[in-house]
Amino acid sequence: MKNIGVLTSGGDAPGMNAAIRAVVRYGIYNSINIIGIKNGYKGLIESDTIDMSLSSVADIIHRGGTILGSARSKEFQESDGFKKALQNIKYLGIDGMVVIGGDGTFRGAQQLCNAGIPTIGIPGTIDNDLPYTQYTLGFFTALTTVLESVEKIRDTSSSHGRTNVIQVMGRNCGDIALYAGLAGGAEMVIIPEVEHNIEEICDKIMQGRARGKRHSIIILAEGAGDAKEISEIIQEKTGVGTRYSVLGYTQRGGTPSAFDRLIGSQMGAKAVELLKESKSNRLLGVKGNQIFDMDIEKALEVEKKFDQTTYDLTKILSI
Ligand code: F6P
Repeated sequence: MKNIGVLTSGGDAPGMNAAIRAVVRYGIYNSINIIGIKNGYKGLIESDTIDMSLSSVADIIHRGGTILGSARSKEFQESDGFKKALQNIKYLGIDGMVVIGGDGTFRGAQQLCNAGIPTIGIPGTIDNDLPYTQYTLGFFTALTTVLESVEKIRDTSSSHGRTNVIQVMGRNCGDIALYAGLAGGAEMVIIPEVEHNIEEICDKIMQGRARGKRHSIIILAEGAGDAKEISEIIQEKTGVGTRYSVLGYTQRGGTPSAFDRLIGSQMGAKAVELLKESKSNRLLGVKGNQIFDMDIEKALEVEKKFDQTTYDLTKILSI
């Protein structure tokens, strides 16, 4: 293995830079050249690359985003675009690829594997929506960002005696909302995995008020509904002043948490190690604080198990 290409694709996630740094430094330590591919698969099609050196990844471990840039490339999924990417891989002398991203990124990794390019995937998405792994890079940083906002909104919510609906990201996955709900002491979480009942939510708000609760925090996953609509219905049914906030892209940025830096570093090194050992077509994941690797086809077939225990606990503790 002489040359390894590394790219980040899809929505950026805090911790991606830690993973890039580890790929570069672990690779160079093992006398492997690392070629950085800019803007995800788009950069492979356009041959937009940069030779990575030890110093090119200095001072990035603590930075959010990705120094390589990211994009979602439709062209890569089409046969002409994919052919161009393969030609460039050959031209650049790339013997193996490390791709960092989410579900869409891994579909691209599968394409590369099927075309005979040894590829290792590192899960990087704030959504935590890759069922084969317990956690993805960026998830815990995003959770911390959400909690910071929840605490600020709680102050004003309590001062005014309001209900506040806070919409968080996650696409079709409710993990950010669910874990922020438990860690942030929210009165309720609304997530795509569980059908919500607006009457029940309103009853809970009114029961809380009857017991002297001044305010309520509801965390809504973006895949489960619209914050404006839901808050208007709640205000109408309860008569309690209800406001909403959509946290948006603040959740994607910021300094990565210690956990995201650790797993990013460990997975970056592990990806290079696997390619060095001629192992390929694997995705990396985290289970019980350990990094593991799994066949890409099998990993992508794993179905998401809903964390009912955490959901039930969130409900119990928010009585
Ligand atoms: O996958 C990460 C994510 O931030 C989702 O939570 C969100 O739905 C989506 O990306 C937003 O995508 P874009 O950056 O294309 O607006």
